[in-house]
Amino acid sequence: MQAAPRAASGSRASSAGVKVSLTHQQGGWGTPVARSISIAQRLSPPHSGQRSGSIGGGGCVGMAGEGRVLCYGRRVIRFAIVAAALAATAAQAQIPRSTPVRVPDTLAARVQACTACHGEQGRATPDGYFPRIAGKPAAYLHNQLRHFQAGRRQAVGMTSLLDHLDDAYLGDIAAHFADLHLPYPPPAPAQGTPEQRARGERLVRVGDPSRNLPSCNSCHGERMTGVQPAIPGLLGLPRDYLIGQLGAWQTGMRRATAPDCMAVIAQRLSGDDVSAVASWLAAQPLGADARPLDRLPAPLPLRCGSDLGGVR
Ligand code: HEC
Ligand code: HEC
Repeated sequence: MQAAPRAASGSRASSAGVKVSLTHQQGGWGTPVARSISIAQRLSPPHSGQRSGSIGGGGCVGMAGEGRVLCYGRRVIRFAIVAAALAATAAQAQIPRSTPVRVPDTLAARVQACTACHGEQGRATPDGYFPRIAGKPAAYLHNQLRHFQAGRRQAVGMTSLLDHLDDAYLGDIAAHFADLHLPYPPPAPAQGTPEQRARGERLVRVGDPSRNLPSCNSCHGERMTGVQPAIPGLLGLPRDYLIGQLGAWQTGMRRATAPDCMAVIAQRLSGDDVSAVASWLAAQPLGADARPLDRLPAPLPLRCGSDLGGVR
């Protein structure tokens, strides 16, 4: 295990705790709010020391093929702290503390608390760790917000934003990002060896019948762009994020509603498989049509418990 991560230098800027209330204020911007819900942007530093091993599955994935161990938790905490510190510094530079900030009362304005980490309009970047959320199936995003709220997934600095939001509002946020069909940047430069990536491609497209491992495509779609309403695509995600998620399913730090088919799949993968699959997926460009499929041509090879609508 890694030692507990320390707050990066610069996090002091955030220690004052800037609270930006994004609640609608009467008379400010016209339309009355349907629900009095706010996203409070709490930018005090994450409890990094106490949460060692808990972020994003916070743990280590042995990458035997490369003779190294990747500890994604530590990495994410560092990103979260830097993002929080930067945002807090910027906020402090512009506003006296505890002055309410008046912003137009639109969902797009409120979810700026999210895009601080997930990139402009939730489109992230192909490197680093933060996953893109724009354009993913709405029910998939909604399920993930529920998972974070219920502790089935962890992300320091994010989960607290969801604490007091009701389920309908989580659905509105999910629908907002799901509707953003924005172009994808080219993938990050390929990592791993060509042999590793070839092995990854085989697992994704064909699976390994000798180990009872179905192809990833049989659920995530032929073009790997996901399937409505609740299966995500696998392209346009950073390699480290993919490794982090598969590792988190292996260790039980990420869970989906039972039966958790992805936990079954991840546990059938070796450390080499995880790194091969992630290296190949992260190097694939998205075609012109990156939208999730409406349905799969065949039933799923395993039962999944997420609310999968018609594709069960
Ligand atoms: C402090 C940075 C940060 C903030 C702010 C943040 N997130 Fe996240 N988010 C993350 C990280 C890191 C992950 C990946 C966690 C993991 O490893 O499982 C994540 C994952 C997600 C996922 C899952 C994506 C997927 O493909 O499964 C969704 C959905 C999401 N965030 C939505 C939001 C929304 C909505 C907000 C605003 C209310 C928000 N996030 C604010 C850091 C952040
Ligand atoms: C039996 C169907 C099925 C198969 C086969 C399958 N998946 Fe999944 N996968 C799912 C479902 C359903 C989810 C959404 C789980 C949830 O709601 O959290 C998912 C989610 C994921 C995620 C999370 C994406 C994100 O944005 O966080 C990754 C990564 C993933 N799968 C990778 C793979 C890989 C790699 C393979 C092949 C080795 C694979 N899956 C095979 C059904 C499947």
